[in-house]
Amino acid sequence: MRPIIIGNWKMHLGYGEALLLANSISKACEKTPEVDVVICPPALYIFPIFEELRSHPRNFFLGLQNTMWEDGGAFTGEVSLSMVKRVCKYVIIGHSERRRIFGETDEMVSKKTRFALESDISPIICVGEEERFHLEDYYDREVARMKKEGGILSQIDRALHQVSHGDLSKVTIAYEPVWSVGTGNNANGAYAAAICFIIKNYLAEKYSPAIAKEIAVIYGGSVNSKNVPELLMQPSIDGLLVGGESLSTREFGAICKITSEVKSGRAI
Ligand code: PGA
Repeated sequence: MRPIIIGNWKMHLGYGEALLLANSISKACEKTPEVDVVICPPALYIFPIFEELRSHPRNFFLGLQNTMWEDGGAFTGEVSLSMVKRVCKYVIIGHSERRRIFGETDEMVSKKTRFALESDISPIICVGEEERFHLEDYYDREVARMKKEGGILSQIDRALHQVSHGDLSKVTIAYEPVWSVGTGNNANGAYAAAICFIIKNYLAEKYSPAIAKEIAVIYGGSVNSKNVPELLMQPSIDGLLVGGESLSTREFGAICKITSEVKSGRAI
């Protein structure tokens, strides 16, 4: 599986800054052809960025941060994937900020996931726990908790409800502990790897080992160029979802470069 680094710009940057950043990131990722790089700017900037890009490397893609689950209609303020299909390859669904601030439910996440797949766009489904697990002391109990309503495995179950087996290879699961997103407090490599491993195991049991192998499981939450090596050295982590640090070409470019070195086995 190709490693993937996704930049979530959230609601940041003015128009000119966004164009500059997109151009410099697309240029930087020419140096890391073995890593897929996705940037998710505010929806308003997607078309101008696409049109103004000076460099279109094959490993560089655009994504939306959210979508409505219908093609169009009376949904004030919403944006549909069908409007950006020509230029977008990915969409983030169920980010913890959407769940927490906008009341997005598992049911909505499931509708959006199905809609993305019908639109031929790859969903990046975010799941995460509010409070840190205590796997070292209570492994079985904590895994049982993940399967309960609201737990991360239940969130995955609900999101993938009604997704056909043939479509699962287009899905990315972003494990983002809520306590870590935007806090500067990342999960350490061992912790993140353990949860990504539990997710992969769960998918293998639910579907099959062959299908689970095709589903990318990535980590997000206070990622920066310093903690990338310990996160990506873990075989169960296929990539990263980066928030704050995706707003700087230097930092985001460094994250992509380290990813390419770590995942290709070259020394860093
Ligand atoms: P952060 O955000 O890297 O700033 O913690 C991650 C995210 O929101 O996906």
